[in-house]
Amino acid sequence: MVGPRRQPSRKGSMADVPQNLQDTIKSLEDTFDVSTAKLKEISDHFVKELEQGLTEEGGDIPMNVTWCMGFPDGHEQGTFLALDMGGTNLRVCEITLPEAKGEFDILQSKYRMPEELKTGTADELWEYIADCLQQFIEYHHEGEKLGQLPLGFTFSYPATQEYIDHGILQRWTKGFDIDGVEGKDVVAPFEQALADRGVPIKLTALINDTTGTMIASAYTDTDMKIGAIFGTGCNAAYMENCGSIPKIAHLNLPPDMPMAINCEYGAFDNAHKVLPRTKYDIIIDKESPRPGQQTYEKMIAGLYLGELFRLVCLDLYDNPEVRLFAGQDISRLRKAYTLDASFLSRIEEDPFGNLQETVDLFETELKLRVTRGECEVFRRLAELIGTRASRLSMCGISAICKKKDLKKCHVGADGSVFNKYPHFKPRAQKALREILDWPEGEKDWVDVRAAEDGSGVGAALIAALTIKRVKDGSSYGIRDPEAMKKLFSNLS
Ligand code: BGC
Repeated sequence: MVGPRRQPSRKGSMADVPQNLQDTIKSLEDTFDVSTAKLKEISDHFVKELEQGLTEEGGDIPMNVTWCMGFPDGHEQGTFLALDMGGTNLRVCEITLPEAKGEFDILQSKYRMPEELKTGTADELWEYIADCLQQFIEYHHEGEKLGQLPLGFTFSYPATQEYIDHGILQRWTKGFDIDGVEGKDVVAPFEQALADRGVPIKLTALINDTTGTMIASAYTDTDMKIGAIFGTGCNAAYMENCGSIPKIAHLNLPPDMPMAINCEYGAFDNAHKVLPRTKYDIIIDKESPRPGQQTYEKMIAGLYLGELFRLVCLDLYDNPEVRLFAGQDISRLRKAYTLDASFLSRIEEDPFGNLQETVDLFETELKLRVTRGECEVFRRLAELIGTRASRLSMCGISAICKKKDLKKCHVGADGSVFNKYPHFKPRAQKALREILDWPEGEKDWVDVRAAEDGSGVGAALIAALTIKRVKDGSSYGIRDPEAMKKLFSNLS
């Protein structure tokens, strides 16, 4: 039998929950709640780390210079390819920017990234990607005689870029662990794999998903000042002035010239100074392929939310005061990363007063029978993990706003957590309000809103902006400006 539709508050339902489970809920709240004062402290420290990352000496946050040097004006034109190497899929797009301001047409295909590829070899990766691009071209342009097609490649990992069409992978994140790529230029082997197949593509811009998100959103909204991803990983990009980037002072770029910075702030607080890490966060880090890296990301990003939930459940199973799943075989639950963020979303979205969907979820996914009281623990735990993620996520955003003195602006946001995790946005806006102290009664001054497709349209726009820049005679951060100019002389 199905219980009544659930009420917004679950307080009334706690009366039937055994005392030991009520105590458990209380203790989980103490573990995962992040107060306003703590958020403010983290945000203030964040500003310092952003500054530090721009210095010659550097710090935990890489603050990567991207050579994306300006916002679009909405009049960009041409046809561009975009390649998005996300976590689960590889997406190839052909994007046409027509004459009409701020518009685009998109043609796209997705290719599943085989799981083994993530821990395979560099050659396998580049060959797989080149094969997908070749297939795309053959399918959509069969028999056509093509010149070189400009490509924006969204490579969403930290990369040091001396040029926009170059990038040395600093380190893999988001669980990737492919041998022989870290510390090396990713463009050269990628181009080689294309050349080996005779695929007529010229990588024009290597970009990060956050930079793409910022630029794609700014294409249609001039209030958009930050691009952010709340997905498998977390990160943001914003526009800095070259004169405020001490680490490139030696290049003597005009001080007012804009330069997009890919913060790579998933690495915030790798020194463990302010983040309220729990024992579960510490286990996630230790067991990850890159312990000590991406401290902030590991507390808030989608890849880790299910794992946090799982680790708490295991802990409560072992706790003699609680004994979750007493007497049952928990072998499925023992498998690392067996739960993803959608497991928590589904618990948070369970519409029934008796949490029947949560009962069913445990039964189907984990082969575990759970009691009504246990379900109340799971519901609260999912809320706590989800709320902590959205609140902490706003420390990075608020820090950029403070650093750039952005009182009112839009933040273009993308990623599975932003798009799919229940209540992410209202929880995040509430946290921003607490951190930034907006006057009572004012609506949100900094508004985090769904972005345009950064890894597709954003990548195409950045490729367009780069070609336009080289044609206008600006050669900053372009490997071989003359060659690029010649190659794309036909593009307007
Ligand atoms: C990567 C960033 C990326 C973010 C969101 C992080 O793990 O290091 O480059 O922007 O995930 O995809």
